[in-house]
Amino acid sequence: MALSTKPYKGTRDFYPEDMYVQKWMFENIAKTVEGFGYQPYDGPMLEPFELYAAKSGQEIVEKQLYWFTDRGERKVAIRPEMTPTMARMVAGKVMELPKPVRWYSIPNLWRYERPQRGRLREHWQLNVDVLGGDNLFADAEILKLAHAVIAGFGGEDKIRIAINNRKLINHVFKNLLKLDADAALKASKAVDARDKIGEEAYLKLLAEAGLNSDQTSTMENFFKSDLETVCSDFDCEGARELNELFSVLKDDAISSVLKLEPQIMRGLDYYTGTVFEVYDVSPENNRAMFGGGRYDNLIGLFGNQQLSGVGFGMGDVTLRNFLESHNLLPELKSHLDVFFVTANRDAVIQSEKLASDLRKLGIKCASSLSTAKFNQQLKQANKLNAKIAVIIGESELENQQLTLKDLVKGEQTSIATNQLTSHLKSMLPGSFN
Ligand code: HAM
Repeated sequence: MALSTKPYKGTRDFYPEDMYVQKWMFENIAKTVEGFGYQPYDGPMLEPFELYAAKSGQEIVEKQLYWFTDRGERKVAIRPEMTPTMARMVAGKVMELPKPVRWYSIPNLWRYERPQRGRLREHWQLNVDVLGGDNLFADAEILKLAHAVIAGFGGEDKIRIAINNRKLINHVFKNLLKLDADAALKASKAVDARDKIGEEAYLKLLAEAGLNSDQTSTMENFFKSDLETVCSDFDCEGARELNELFSVLKDDAISSVLKLEPQIMRGLDYYTGTVFEVYDVSPENNRAMFGGGRYDNLIGLFGNQQLSGVGFGMGDVTLRNFLESHNLLPELKSHLDVFFVTANRDAVIQSEKLASDLRKLGIKCASSLSTAKFNQQLKQANKLNAKIAVIIGESELENQQLTLKDLVKGEQTSIATNQLTSHLKSMLPGSFN
């Protein structure tokens, strides 16, 4: 039986047209985050299993992690997220790194998930993190940056940023609902999964966590609170932090899309303060587009030094869905400046010489690698979106001439071979170095 040409379930092949989109998205992101002073980093795709077991949370470790035992009997995981790698790297040089540490990366990550809209088994994820600095200002910066990344694509009025604080949730679970730590964790997981699993399964999980109907409705009421109510009803650090954050951001462009939503939990266990999710307002993309939060205890896992951080992760799948839903993706095509059409062996050899001179001047050029009929070669040129065909036929070779065909306008001219560069300069002014 012939081998399948399909990629592994939940993964994508990136044919050139997809690579152009990916590259464009990542370049756009890099421009925005580097504008805020963030520096690129990367790490290995494989990490010791324990790195995730320590803090990522049960769902990732038990249900989504790809892992294996290597030939040296080490338990190795393929990274499902970047934050533990980033924390390991920061902890490894924590004394030397200038603070605040502002880092970004766009790694590919693997999670064994049920493939669906916005969720695959392999995705690329922008990670932006700042460690050190004043917590309030760092939280505000990360939120502004999340907003700016989307604004960089022209989509800033098509999102909603839902924000909450883990300390507030902990306070409510403990003091209002009187839940113990185990019940609180289970309830928070149920709330986090609510949209994904539906109302019936959600209520079942709450009951399993030990919540009675009074507690469930008290919690539901709490989820409807706005900032003012939260601040007047709950005397706790979480409410105060939220209040300060809203006040610091009140004159920023983000304020029109930022909203307190007390049901925001975030699935990962390491968040300790501010948490947020960014939603696409288009009903087509109903799951969170991206999210993040503050973690106080990750760096400390690697030694004595504590360094608090805040950041977010944004997947390329949800970003692309967002850009497509709102028509924010430009038409991206490969393009060649010049395509050589060649009649015979000598013409191919001459085209190679001319091409290597042009490349030094920044012109993108290629030849057909054949001596097929001109019509066929011109079709190839059109498929590659070449702007100009340089035709070297037998008569051209004999008379030391070239025929230039403008493939956009359809116009054709004959020129002396040694005039190629000057002609192209007037035809393709923007393409030269
Ligand atoms: P996360 O919520 O697990 O957070 O993932 C962040 C984002 O990555 C999601 O909102 C989504 O855009 C994308 N994503 C996650 N899983 C998938 C998937 N299976 N397919 C496609 N996209 C996906 C984290 O991973 C945190 N480490 C982010 C972070 C960085 N927090 C602080 N710094």
